[in-house]
Amino acid sequence: QGLNDLARKAGLLYFGTAIDNPSLNNSKYMSIATDSHIFGQVTPANGQKWMYIEPERNVFDYSMGDAIIRPAIQHGQLRRCHNLVWHSQLPDWLTGTNYTKSELISILENHIAHEVKHYYGQCYAWDVVNEALNEDGTLRSDLWLTTIGPEYLELAFEFAAKYVSPGTKLYYNDYNIETINNKSLAVVSLIKSFKKKGIRIDGVGLQSHFTAGSSPSYDQQVANMAQFTSLDVEVAITELDVRVNLPDDATKEAQQASDYANAVKACKDTDGCVGVTVWDFYDPFSWVPGVFAGQGDADLWWGNFTMKPAYYSVAEVL
Ligand code: XIL
Repeated sequence: QGLNDLARKAGLLYFGTAIDNPSLNNSKYMSIATDSHIFGQVTPANGQKWMYIEPERNVFDYSMGDAIIRPAIQHGQLRRCHNLVWHSQLPDWLTGTNYTKSELISILENHIAHEVKHYYGQCYAWDVVNEALNEDGTLRSDLWLTTIGPEYLELAFEFAAKYVSPGTKLYYNDYNIETINNKSLAVVSLIKSFKKKGIRIDGVGLQSHFTAGSSPSYDQQVANMAQFTSLDVEVAITELDVRVNLPDDATKEAQQASDYANAVKACKDTDGCVGVTVWDFYDPFSWVPGVFAGQGDADLWWGNFTMKPAYYSVAEVL
């Protein structure tokens, strides 16, 4: 029984993973990544981001996104599409020019229209806006906020709603919103304001990039998920990984196993939490060591393709 088989039996829609384009060349890796008993859902780790999809203004290149999405369709895996609007991984033409507000709004609609239509009917969900909030719950002063103003969020969701296939879920996705805190409360306010104005939002993505030993507890995660599901939006754990301070040892691996299990169990026990996605399953392809100095070993599989205690603890709670 693979993790996705177990997740489905437990009432979830999927257990999934991110896959990055360079990984497609590793056949041992791909034999696991494309096995729908193990992973019933796939997210492109990079291939659908703005810098790759629209590298020049109004020039679209779907090759990297397609390279991840097409095999997932062939293998009967759901796709979470990621992402439409973010402050990061933007092309130089976009960040290097001072567009006016109305120009930037039309650039935004044009980008969303093209990308969403290209993937029409191929996405279970779209992460429409990614990481728009600061830790204190205010909006991040990125390109979008400074040029368009706070209404860029509503515009992004309205544009997405206009072009997506019926049934595609529209998500807000962020990190450090896995407990009740200023940032997650700001997401609650965002959803309430959208609902009041009749703007569609269907889900909240809890990235869940955790550190072994300081991950939120099961109770904190359940309570946090409830504040979203009570507003009639679904939730998903969208980018789960649990990094450890290197060097790793058996104690840290046990802590990691328990942290992974708490997150997965919180989702399983929450009506309205649809699934769990790990932000890669294989340590050599993890984004963690490149971004968090001195940390790593964040995924369920070791470099030699054996499974960690965390894999077994996840299987156990599903
Ligand atoms: C990361 C990718 O994994 C890296 O390969 C890339 O260099 C940077 O982005 N939150 C997100 C993801 O929403 O898109 C990020 O992915 C990880 C943090």
